[in-house]
Amino acid sequence: MMGAAGSTACWRGALGAASAAFPKLDAFHPGAIWPDDRGVPINAHGGGVLHHGGRYWWFGEHKIAGEAGNRAHVGVHCYSSRDLYNWRDEGIALAVSSDPTSLIADDCVIERPKVIRNPRTGMFVMWFHLELRGQDYSAARAGVAVSHSPAGPYRFLGTGRVDPGRWPVGMSDADRRPGSIVARDLAGGQMSRDMTLFVDDDGTAYHLFSSEDNRTLDAAVLRPDWLGHDGRYARILPEGRNEAPAIFKARGRYWLFASGTTGWDPNPARLYVAERVFGPWRALGNPVRGTPEQVATTFGGQSSFVLSLPPGRDGHPRAIFMADRWQPKNAIDGRYVWLPIAWENDQPVLRWHESWTLDQL
Ligand code: DGJ
Repeated sequence: MMGAAGSTACWRGALGAASAAFPKLDAFHPGAIWPDDRGVPINAHGGGVLHHGGRYWWFGEHKIAGEAGNRAHVGVHCYSSRDLYNWRDEGIALAVSSDPTSLIADDCVIERPKVIRNPRTGMFVMWFHLELRGQDYSAARAGVAVSHSPAGPYRFLGTGRVDPGRWPVGMSDADRRPGSIVARDLAGGQMSRDMTLFVDDDGTAYHLFSSEDNRTLDAAVLRPDWLGHDGRYARILPEGRNEAPAIFKARGRYWLFASGTTGWDPNPARLYVAERVFGPWRALGNPVRGTPEQVATTFGGQSSFVLSLPPGRDGHPRAIFMADRWQPKNAIDGRYVWLPIAWENDQPVLRWHESWTLDQL
């Protein structure tokens, strides 16, 4: 079964004839190759999951083999599932362009795509981190695309930095001084790299992103159609050097997983809590419980998303922590580490499971 998964070739071999049905999965196997409905390893890195129409929709970066796979050559891949274990390939939701002058040209960087459905417009809205072709990580932009259906195809609408000309809410006069990093980026908008989306109970959608050369994590409110920002943003973790934001709400509070900034290398996870998305946020330390290596490396992974599920019968919050084990030398071989979020002393904690099932939540 999955826990003993070997190479991709092994899975293809196990599939046998093209018409053979692939055996159904009935558990999560963190870190193992995760085959889709055709036995092909799921290719949806840095992803997020949307629940809509009785199915879960997983969006992530489609990576190719080798170091070239750290840049986007295909686009954002979509899979769907009813049970979260077995995923049907829904194809490429947002494709890169073969036109080298396109803002999402082949060989750009598209990372950490997230999709939310706007109940006011009925549209599926995708946001992602975009770096322009040939410009390494200097553009630091957010991109947005939209579709009438969850699997797409998504229509690319544009990219940019966040809230040009706007100061963050609650910023002191001292921090507005001309030499500050926020002032530096004021005219062109704040930098936006690692990111996620979050829709609050009142329907307000937030874009959380690493800004200020990855020194500060910001949260910005999206305007009612969710296709742009509404001008309000906050420096929720100033100078904390956080990446990989993954936020969820449980027990009436907001919880945020993040990582340090060590490129593709894993580092210790961080957990924060707040009463409001705009903060103040309080650091709770490392949520990983396990061996020294697991604690130091977040099980070899970096957070990408938290999938909240309906609470259990007793109102107990149920949520899945999603992370990536990056393989920058052979990007397509990056693995997914999905783990149950457990609660200890009223705080979320993460423990390793070789395999686990939803009834353990
Ligand atoms: C860490 C980020 O979390 C990833 O999404 C990616 O941007 C890498 N850094 C690039 O080094």
